[in-house]
Amino acid sequence: MRSTAHLHGHPIHPTLIPFPFAYLLGSAGMNLLASATGRTRLHRTASHLNAMGLASGLLAAVPGIVDYLFAVPPKSSAHDRATRHAVANVTALSLFAAARTGRRGPDAPASAWAVAAEVCGAGLLGYAGWLGGTLVYRNQIGVDHRYANAGKWQVERAASSIETGTVDVGPSDGLEVDQMRLVHVGDRRIVVARTADGWAACDDRCTHKGGPLSDGALVAGRVQCPWHGSQFDVTSGAVVRGPAEAAIATYPIAARDGRLYLTVP
Ligand code: FES
Repeated sequence: MRSTAHLHGHPIHPTLIPFPFAYLLGSAGMNLLASATGRTRLHRTASHLNAMGLASGLLAAVPGIVDYLFAVPPKSSAHDRATRHAVANVTALSLFAAARTGRRGPDAPASAWAVAAEVCGAGLLGYAGWLGGTLVYRNQIGVDHRYANAGKWQVERAASSIETGTVDVGPSDGLEVDQMRLVHVGDRRIVVARTADGWAACDDRCTHKGGPLSDGALVAGRVQCPWHGSQFDVTSGAVVRGPAEAAIATYPIAARDGRLYLTVP
C-alpha cells in the first residue's frame, strides 16, 4: 500500500524512525552504564541523547500519523496492529519525557525511577519497532509493489459526498485492461476495475482480514489480495480462492460520455 506521506514515492516515516530509536536507546544505555560504573558524567550524555530522541520522535510521528489515517486500510488487522504500534510509541515517548524530571542537574546521577522509566521505554520502543516491521514486511504499508502493467497507483475521491445513489467516479480513459483504481465514496472504499469484458466495481476490503484489494493484482477478471492471496471475481464478488470465505460486495458501474458512474445502494 503506497504511503501517503512520501517523497517521490519514498515513505518518510520509516526514514525518520532510526533517529529516535538510536537516541532513546542510547539514553537508556548511557544511564545504565553510568549507574553501573559510577561515571556520573555519562548521565549528561544520556540527557542530551534523551532530548534529541524526543525531538526526532515527535518529528517522525507526523508522517506516521498521516499514514495511519490515510494509508492503513480501516477495519483491517493492519489497522489494529498500527494502533498498538502508535500506543506503544506514545507511551515510550511519555516515559522518556517523564524521566527528564528525574534528573537533578546536568552531571547529577539520574534517579533510579528515571533510569527504570527509560529502560521500560526502551522495551516499548522495541515492541513498537517489531510491530512496525510487521506493518511493512507483512502488511506492505508504505510498499509500492505494483505488478507489471498495473499502471500508476490511482486514488479518486467521488465529487459527491452522498453515501448512496449514482456518483461520478472519474474519467473512463485512465485505466487499461487489468488495471484498478481506488475510489472513496463517503466512508466506502471501492475498487473500480477494468477487465477484458468491461468495467467492474467491488469493495476494497478483503473479507479475510481486511487487506486492500486495490493494492493487489488483477488478472483475467480476478483480483488477488496482497496479504494472504485470496482471490475474488471482481464482477460477481465470489471467492475464487481462500483463505477468504465470504464474497465481496459488488456495485453496478457504467461508462457514459467519458466518465464512469457508480451506483451505491
Ligand atoms: S486479508 Fe487475508 S487474504 Fe486478504
